[in-house]
Order: sequence, then C-alpha cells, then structure tokens
Amino acid sequence: MTTSDPPTPIAISPHGVADPNISRDPALPNAAYVDATEWQHERDTVMANTWAGLGFSADIASAGAVCPVNFMGLPLLMVRDQNGCARVFHNVCRHRGMQLVAEAGEAGLMVRCPYHKWGYDLTGQLRVTPNVGGMGVHEIAGFNCADHALTAVRSEEALGMVFINLSGEAPPLDEHLAPLLQRWRALAGESFDRDLQADTSEFGAMTLEVKCNFKLAVENYCESYHLPFVHPDLNTYSPLDAHYNLIVDPLASGQGTRTYDLTRGAEDPLPAFAGWDGDRLKTAEYLSLYPNVLLGIQADHFFAILLIPEAHNLTRERLQFMYASDAALTEQHRSRRQSLHEAWNLVFSEDVSVVEGMQQGRASPAFDGGLFTPLMDVPTHHFHQWFIKASLGQAASLQQKQSS
Ligand code: FES
Ligand SMILES: [Fe+2]
Repeated sequence: MTTSDPPTPIAISPHGVADPNISRDPALPNAAYVDATEWQHERDTVMANTWAGLGFSADIASAGAVCPVNFMGLPLLMVRDQNGCARVFHNVCRHRGMQLVAEAGEAGLMVRCPYHKWGYDLTGQLRVTPNVGGMGVHEIAGFNCADHALTAVRSEEALGMVFINLSGEAPPLDEHLAPLLQRWRALAGESFDRDLQADTSEFGAMTLEVKCNFKLAVENYCESYHLPFVHPDLNTYSPLDAHYNLIVDPLASGQGTRTYDLTRGAEDPLPAFAGWDGDRLKTAEYLSLYPNVLLGIQADHFFAILLIPEAHNLTRERLQFMYASDAALTEQHRSRRQSLHEAWNLVFSEDVSVVEGMQQGRASPAFDGGLFTPLMDVPTHHFHQWFIKASLGQAASLQQKQSS
C-alpha cells in the first residue's frame, strides 16, 4: 500500500478504520536504528530535504541572542537579528574554521570569533577583521569582507520553533505545514499558532536524554496502544478507548483523545485558546511531525518536543510548554502550570524504558522490522512509509544527479 491508497476497512472502532494490508508492508530495517553511517546518511538526505526542528524560538528570545546547536554532527548557530528575524548559520568562522559560539547567550550587535576576533553582524555579514593588514591596520588590499559572510542555513519559524531546511529546496514552511495548521486552526482558532506564548519559567521546559535512535521516539509517540501498560495514570483521565488514530498526510501521524480532562486538579483553570471549538473542549491531539518534532495540543496548553539526534543511538528530547495567552503565564496560574509540568514529566519519563528497550531489541538479527497490526499501528506504519519513500526519493534523485 502507498500512503495515497485508501485503506480497506475491516472494522471501525473508536480508534478508526483498520487496514489489514499494512501488515504486509515493509518496515525500516535494523540498520536504520543501529548503524552510525546510515544515521549520518539520513541527515544528508531525508532530514536535509524537508523541514527539521532545530530549536525553540524562546532559545533566541530577543535581538542579539545566539544559541549554538549541534544537529547530527553539524555545528549550527541560531541568531535573533536586530529586526527580530531568526537566522541560522553554520557555526564556523570563515577564517580558520574556529567554532564561533560555544554557549547560548547575548552577542549584542556582533558575533565575534574567539580566535582572531573577526566580527560578523547578525545577518552574517563579515564587518571587522582586526589587524588583518598588520598591527592596528584592519583592512588589506585584495581582501573584501563582503566575500566572506557566514554560511546561512535556510530557516523559518512556526509553532514556537525554529525549523531548518538544509537542502534549501523544500517548499516554504507555511506551505509544508498547511495540512496540519488547517486541522488545528479548525480546532483551536485561526490564530492559535500565532498566539502561542512560551512558558520560560521553571515549569516551562524539560529535557530527557534517551538511549535510542530518534525514530523510535517518533514511533512511540505515534501510537496510543501502549497507554494502559506504560501510562497507567494518564490512562485514568485519557483512556485508550477514547482515542482515535490520526493521519495528517503527508507530514504527520499520531493519535487523538476525546476525554482529556481540561480542569483536572485545577482550582483556577488556565485560559483556553480563544477560538477553541466549544463542542470539543476535551479533545486533545498528539502528532509526530516528521521527521523530528512531537506536538501536543489541548484546549488550554500546547507543547512541542524537539528530538535532537545526538548519535544513532542517543537522542535529546527537549520539551517546551506554550499557552494560549500571556494571561496563562501569570502567578495566578503558576500551580496549574506546575501540575501540568509534573503530569507530562511523568508520562514522558515512563516512555524512556520502552524506547530504550526497542533500541536494545534492534540489535537482534531475529528482528526484521516487525509488523504493523491492522488498527493500532496505522500511524506508525504511516511514518515508516514516509521515511522509506523519503529515503528512496533521495536515492533516485542522487542517481539522477550522478547520471546527468
Ligand atoms: S578563525 Fe575566526 S578570526 Fe581567525
Ligand atoms: Fe507513551
């Protein structure tokens, strides 16, 4: 089956339509999880050709902020320029290749290389080259600063994140995300994504290091099948039988629930998104946005998890909470934000042992990609099909380039 074929229904359950054909489809082989060379190849093909999540907009909140990120071995630098525009550059000086910025912070008007103090403005232009013509002489004939700007990586912001497209050839980010934004604007209001306010307090973020390939975190997030066994507490207020499968073709898959309890434990409810559908107050949806972003939307809060692949078998998960308006970030709602942080921290910590266990399992030659059951694994199957298609597409275009 391809992602465009309609599934053959064999049953309709609260989860949706079952598709018996998916059990016969190929899954990603073990090498896609355990092979370091394959991992690097994926960066330069599958990841490079689409929009991947790199960081949060809140990492570079104000003009002059800089934040280095190592993306699958590539040293990159996120910058907020003087016009408030987020930019991404290769984090390397054009002179002798020194890493420009080692730690997140404020660069002011210029990023200065620590080695010979060349200075780049926040649009990446080389502006100063101290002593380049001898002590106290800062220019030299035959050397033009305009020829040595930082190397930019195509980047755009959406949903409180900075995305990159390493190839520079993907459609604009808005266009890429359109099917997802359309769905969630219908649920949460036309401006929900522009209204998002990141919580920068101690309850606004969390980070987990998981010893697995990033794709296993994506796959685990796609499905609700494991809910009763891995998340017994979550299953009490958002049970498995209230879930449905969710495919947002071609870029995301996951699950939704009809019973997420908005006011659980809250004396002072958080403000909901202004345009949230009043008939669906307890709807919540969880989508893996391929290739490396996990999203969760509820009537009164939103979160995004960036999966930063550190190695083929190690992934850093960065979660950022976002709210419907500034009003949610006040002291009045502190305890509610704290309780959400605790509840989700429990859920995502519970997932660590299963994604790490799957990574261990991928070392076995007795496993060949496994199988997709007709109902519960429909979203995971969609991710595999997307990844395989993206890999094959890259191989075909590489071949085309080589033969032309
Ligand atoms: S390496 Fe950066 S100024 Fe020399
Ligand atoms: Fe889970």
